[in-house]
Amino acid sequence: MNTIRVGVVGLGRLGYTHAENITTTKNAELVAVCSPLEEELSRAQKEWGVTHCFTEIEKMLSSVKLDAIVLVSPSSFHAEHIIYCLQKGLHVFCEKPLATSIDACKKVEKIVAKNPSKIFMLGFMRRYDPSYLYAKTCIDEGKIGRPILFRGYSVDPNAAIEGALKYAAHSAGQFIDMAVHDFDLARWFLKAEPTSIYAIGGCYLHPEYQQYDDGDNVSALLKFENDAMAFVFAGRTAAHGYNVETEIVGTKATLRIGSIPQKNLVEILDQDGVRKECSQSFNERFEVAFKNEIQEFINCIVEERQPEIKAHDGTQASYIAEMATKSFKNNTLISL
Ligand SMILES: NC(=O)c1ccc[n+]([C@@H]2O[C@H](COP(=O)([O-])OP(=O)(O)OC[C@H]3O[C@@H](n4cnc5c(N)ncnc54)[C@H](O)[C@@H]3O)[C@@H](O)[C@H]2O)c1
Repeated sequence: MNTIRVGVVGLGRLGYTHAENITTTKNAELVAVCSPLEEELSRAQKEWGVTHCFTEIEKMLSSVKLDAIVLVSPSSFHAEHIIYCLQKGLHVFCEKPLATSIDACKKVEKIVAKNPSKIFMLGFMRRYDPSYLYAKTCIDEGKIGRPILFRGYSVDPNAAIEGALKYAAHSAGQFIDMAVHDFDLARWFLKAEPTSIYAIGGCYLHPEYQQYDDGDNVSALLKFENDAMAFVFAGRTAAHGYNVETEIVGTKATLRIGSIPQKNLVEILDQDGVRKECSQSFNERFEVAFKNEIQEFINCIVEERQPEIKAHDGTQASYIAEMATKSFKNNTLISL
């Protein structure tokens, strides 16, 4: 099998991690990178010896022969970049969300369907985290009985607020940027679509989010077609670090993933008492998941099979996020 020649678009907070992971992914080679920022390109050249560096995606695709592309550009570019790359005959991995509007998601779904020989994968990396995979197996094997409640918290550290605020104009809001992971997980674990949603929130610490008609902390309550419930909380102001925790309550058992978002298994006993340190970023908490999902993308190309996660999952999660945003802005319960 030939090595899959990969290009990465976007070398920011997550793009750097994906690019670095590709350098150690089996059957893959990091051949080209693209970012409008020269300093990010120089860093790629220096750290990974990448010689094909571009400031525009069009220039990259017309200059270098690639098999696959990993899109880690700002969310507002996803739809345009996915469509462009698929039409150029590349396999495509794209970070979440699929797109920032439902119309754009549906357009992407159509182009993906028209190119069945091209692998398309969406970066909902929690589905590739060993603990989430284990929980999914427990649920599928009936070990928790009937799942009746999904509870998901996704809270960024307040220490990362500067980057989050810089990115806010591209993010399409907390529900689509952060809570979209939990909407995807809720669908995945509960195996159903939601029928209603009510969302609330506010700017509790960072009034800057008001200019985007957004909150720094938001939450949503959902009912699903199989009567299951979900509660999702997304925020930007955790004092202790990167807090992603998930709970699935069933009729026979409850599963909790990361309910204490600990960095590792070490307990520190010192003058302040007994404590555990916390993960400080998505890169740290989901280090293994990010590696696994890129390896799965390459394996799918090599083995000529599509990944479990479909473009439609991206549309559905974005749809729920869009309706949550609407409910938050209009203070109304929405039937889906
Ligand atoms: N899975 C996760 O948990 C997770 C975590 C963080 C970010 N993300 C997603 O990854 C994407 C990037 O987020 P980030 O935090 O790395 O953002 P970022 O702002 O740190 O980086 C964005 C990168 O894209 C580049 N860029 C900007 N415009 C571009 C264009 N027109 N063409 C090509 N490149 C362009 C920027 O120069 C930068 O390198 C977003 O879609 C975000 O939702 C996912």
